[in-house]
Amino acid sequence: MTNDLRWMLSSDQQFPYQDNKMIELWFKVMDWFKPHVVDILGDTDDQACYSKYTEGRSAEFLKMYKDQNGAAIVPLMQHEAKGAREFYARNREIAGPDAELFTALGNHDIRIFNYMDAKLPDFINIVTPEALWNLDSLGYGYIYYDALPKKRYGDIHVHHGISIADAGAVRADMNSLQVSLIRGHSHRLASHFQTYELRNKGKGETIRGYEIGHMCDEKGPGMKYTQHHDWQKGFAIAHIVNDYPHIQMIHVAPDYSCVVDGKVFTL
Ligand SMILES: [Fe+2]
Repeated sequence: MTNDLRWMLSSDQQFPYQDNKMIELWFKVMDWFKPHVVDILGDTDDQACYSKYTEGRSAEFLKMYKDQNGAAIVPLMQHEAKGAREFYARNREIAGPDAELFTALGNHDIRIFNYMDAKLPDFINIVTPEALWNLDSLGYGYIYYDALPKKRYGDIHVHHGISIADAGAVRADMNSLQVSLIRGHSHRLASHFQTYELRNKGKGETIRGYEIGHMCDEKGPGMKYTQHHDWQKGFAIAHIVNDYPHIQMIHVAPDYSCVVDGKVFTL
């Protein structure tokens, strides 16, 4: 065995609509598992106030803060990003200074950048992932939502996810991208495998895909854009052995218990 790296992955916390019990469970597992690598796969920050759903309504950023002058714009945006920023920081704190941290920004995380472009272009160069969430100073690598998936370890690529298909969102993205994927976005837990016997000079190739659930409060006010939440709470871990990630999906039970590497975690 040339290496054995431990890896944790989660997505779709949707701060400030996070499920605090899921957040506590995630860090409880992290404290024990001691990952070398942590990936946060997007929609960490919900950013409802920059979305097309609140545009022109009382919950839109420029309606909420209509009496503020220009100088207050960036601090108010940093205020709105506080929950996600603290989550990124706590991952660094618990995973430790040597852990490799990566985030694939989701469609919600980048709402603010599109909003700046449309409504506050004077601030577009000031409002960055560093200004909002301290991603550079916390040592995160990251990709924007419009980037192709990032190759991580072995065959595995990560991104927030493109397809939102009812069943088999990761399967749909595997069909378009033709690589092994771990992703969020669908808020569902699923895995899918495809084998091509003639690839790889006749040795064959199996690509793998995982959609890793969510960590938000689906009953919260921010998730009312859909009445029907056919979603599952969870995350994923992996052991990377000889550059091959062995992935385990962690489904979290209704009482917030889960089992990781044979160890039972409860709150
Ligand atoms: Fe998403």
